[in-house]
Amino acid sequence: MPAIGLGTFGSDHISADEVAMAVKGAIRAGYRHLDCASVYGNEDRIGRAIEESGIARDELWITSKLWNDQHSRVEESCRKSLRDLGLTRLDMYLVHWPFPNFHPPGCSVESRSADSRPYIHEDFMATWRAMERLVELGLTRHIGTSNMTIPKLRLLLRDARIRPAVNEMELHPHFQQPELFEFVKANGMEPVGYSPIGSPNRPERDRTAEDTVDVEDPVITGIAARLGIAPAAVCIKWAVQRGQTPIPFSVKPRNYIANLECLQSAPLTDEDMRAIAGIDRNCRLIKGQVFLWKDNQSWEDLWDLDGVIKA
Ligand SMILES: NC(=O)c1ccc[n+]([C@@H]2O[C@H](COP(=O)([O-])OP(=O)(O)OC[C@H]3O[C@@H](n4cnc5c(N)ncnc54)[C@H](OP(=O)(O)O)[C@@H]3O)[C@@H](O)[C@H]2O)c1
Repeated sequence: MPAIGLGTFGSDHISADEVAMAVKGAIRAGYRHLDCASVYGNEDRIGRAIEESGIARDELWITSKLWNDQHSRVEESCRKSLRDLGLTRLDMYLVHWPFPNFHPPGCSVESRSADSRPYIHEDFMATWRAMERLVELGLTRHIGTSNMTIPKLRLLLRDARIRPAVNEMELHPHFQQPELFEFVKANGMEPVGYSPIGSPNRPERDRTAEDTVDVEDPVITGIAARLGIAPAAVCIKWAVQRGQTPIPFSVKPRNYIANLECLQSAPLTDEDMRAIAGIDRNCRLIKGQVFLWKDNQSWEDLWDLDGVIKA
């Protein structure tokens, strides 16, 4: 898997066509890894962009993800992503969230679906068996998870016939998740890091007063000033050197090219790496409130903070 990928989630403020244009430009600039998902609502446009780029299929690494309301329709959903992307096989297919809880795109974080449920391992394993079948059918080379915790991964690793090859998780200097990161590595998975720059342009509904800003941290801006690169590029260099695969999003050529090119300059020093290790704020930005299953719950209940899966 290429060491950096291009994110493709335009959220509710960047159109599918703008994202597709960025994909085309990014492939031209040298990106070979795309992080897609059916719920991003743009796989058909991205498919066209890939075709128009003229790049050979086997030069690209393409990930897609199963959305939460499709946990019992895995093959159908994977085939739809393949059709939209214009592919016969994915490189990676992920279960996007471990909760089968649907919410409409762009809804408020307070919104709850009436039939929302907690994580139920037997149900997740039924989905995972269908994921394993995709590999057997040749529809994807690898399968993996996203937004999993250590307790949930322990159960999955115990019961899987085909183990997850990656866990996609939020990772940036202010949210380093050291325990989960080490667990994922120790179990032979690759940590793929989303929101690697700290998602500075995420929608207002995904912000809280406690959130901190990675690209304004004096350690990050200090290293950036010394090296003459953008603070975002320091976050990307740190991610790759730490041993995770960042998937930064940008629709601006200047930014997505800088995010790729920064990996060609001299690595951060050990001292820089130690300084960044010291600025973890445990600041989760993508809290996932819409996936909660009961009223009056707090988003922490999604993340098994005391090591126990909440029922
Ligand atoms: N598995 C999951 O549940 C999950 C959850 C969230 C995200 N993701 C994936 O991860 C990807 C990235 O996450 P993200 O979009 O939340 O956050 P991000 O990559 O940390 O931040 C993206 C924002 O940073 C800006 N940016 C990028 N490069 C920059 C640069 N060099 N200088 C200044 N600003 C820069 C971009 O704006 P401009 O366009 O203006 O450059 C963009 O709005 C998503 O697109 C998606 O593919 C997955």
